Amino acid sequence: MTRENPYRCAECGASQAKWAGRCDACGAWNSIVAETPLAPGTAAVLRRGQVLPLTDLKTGAEELPRARSGVAELDRVLGGGLVPGSAILLGGDPGIGKSTLLLQAAARFARSGLAVIYVTGEESAAQVQMRAQRLGLGDSPVRLASDTSLRDILTTLEAEAPDLVVIDSIQTMWLDSIEAVPGSVSQVRATAHELTAFAKRRGISVVMVGHVTKDGALAGPRVVEHMVDTVLHFEGERGHQFRILRAVKNRFGPAGEIGVFEMTGRGLIEVKNPSALFLSERARTAPGAAVLAAIEGTRAVLCEIQALVAEAPSGQARRSVVGWDGGRLAMILAVLDARAGLGFGGLDVYLNVAGGLRVGEPAADLAVALALVSARSGVVIDPQTVIFGEIGLSGALRPVAQTENRLKEAQKLGFTSAILPERPRRAEGSGMVLREFGDLPAVVATLFGPREARPDRD
Ligand code: TYD
Ligand code: MG
Repeated sequence: MTRENPYRCAECGASQAKWAGRCDACGAWNSIVAETPLAPGTAAVLRRGQVLPLTDLKTGAEELPRARSGVAELDRVLGGGLVPGSAILLGGDPGIGKSTLLLQAAARFARSGLAVIYVTGEESAAQVQMRAQRLGLGDSPVRLASDTSLRDILTTLEAEAPDLVVIDSIQTMWLDSIEAVPGSVSQVRATAHELTAFAKRRGISVVMVGHVTKDGALAGPRVVEHMVDTVLHFEGERGHQFRILRAVKNRFGPAGEIGVFEMTGRGLIEVKNPSALFLSERARTAPGAAVLAAIEGTRAVLCEIQALVAEAPSGQARRSVVGWDGGRLAMILAVLDARAGLGFGGLDVYLNVAGGLRVGEPAADLAVALALVSARSGVVIDPQTVIFGEIGLSGALRPVAQTENRLKEAQKLGFTSAILPERPRRAEGSGMVLREFGDLPAVVATLFGPREARPDRD
């Protein structure tokens, strides 16, 4: 290695063997400065810190050490367990059960040997203790701290060095260096950033609760989502007992994975067979109902799509949808109108995914369309039939991913037939009657007659 010249021009960067009043490369005056040499070894450290062969990184998801809570629904959503040093955000509506879930999870992790500290900024320690009693976790080795000053909390955590910390909630935390009230965008961002950095630095897992607020009075979890490794949403209808824990983002596992729970008088219990639960309240003989075989995360889940169609009293017809995308509903209505001659003009349309599940995949198109036609015509769809498939704007049906998986789940639950898009290769004997169709008009004609149209409408 050649020895570097000891002087450099601050203007053009040319290196010089000796000091001069003027740079002979760019002509600038008084720009030559002495270069401070790097301490021996520094360069090598820098080089090593900045580039690493990809193959050397020991962070393959499979190799990560993980702590399991023993709550299968939670461990799966985390990607197979809790990764040390990970920062997790749990978002959800106020009152949906985030504190309950985390207190129960904390107790399970503590019982499995982790040192767990639960920091409550919303409730008093006594309130959390009372809840723990009610949940039958009174003798759990979880330690409690009631505080909102992040500075103090971090000092405590540095000293205690637990394995897992729950921060309930990020909207109550504040740093004295930020001149804003707790819950403001700058406080939420700064405190979440400190906690995430702390998690990485100390290899301590941090779970932060973030309330989703519709009125915007508090900064929502959105401002934190990009910082953390994992974003979980806790979803459900408050009047309903089902709760769904969904991995919206996960650096350590598949996103989209869900865990299903039921809120009871003694806390949350795992639902091992969500399909049975979602179908438990179904009215088998009502028009407007179609059973969808959906894929949530890595597993198939059956749920009921319910449609109601009613004469619009006057003026603008209503479109109301719960658990599915409103824009997608508008598209299906347009396709039914344009390709199958089934107009919904002058009709109110209500669509609901039963059980509080939120379905995001286009594979629900066909079940939605058939539920709508069933509601419009009053013709009941066979309750032993499961439906799935994507609908294109042309009315063509497109095959969807994991067909076998969906059929297997349906068969497990006693369904005897399926309506699905045509595929190049047919499935071999699944034990069910498979009715494959190329386009929507063909399905409608087969199920509801050659041209389903009410004589009193359109
Ligand atoms: P909570 O965990 O406090 O919600 P969050 O932290 O998301 O605001 O849960 C609040 C609701 O859960 C409350 O309305 C009561 C209900 N709940 C039960 O039904 N059973 C229980 O065992 C517990 C602890 C709460
Ligand atoms: Mg709470």
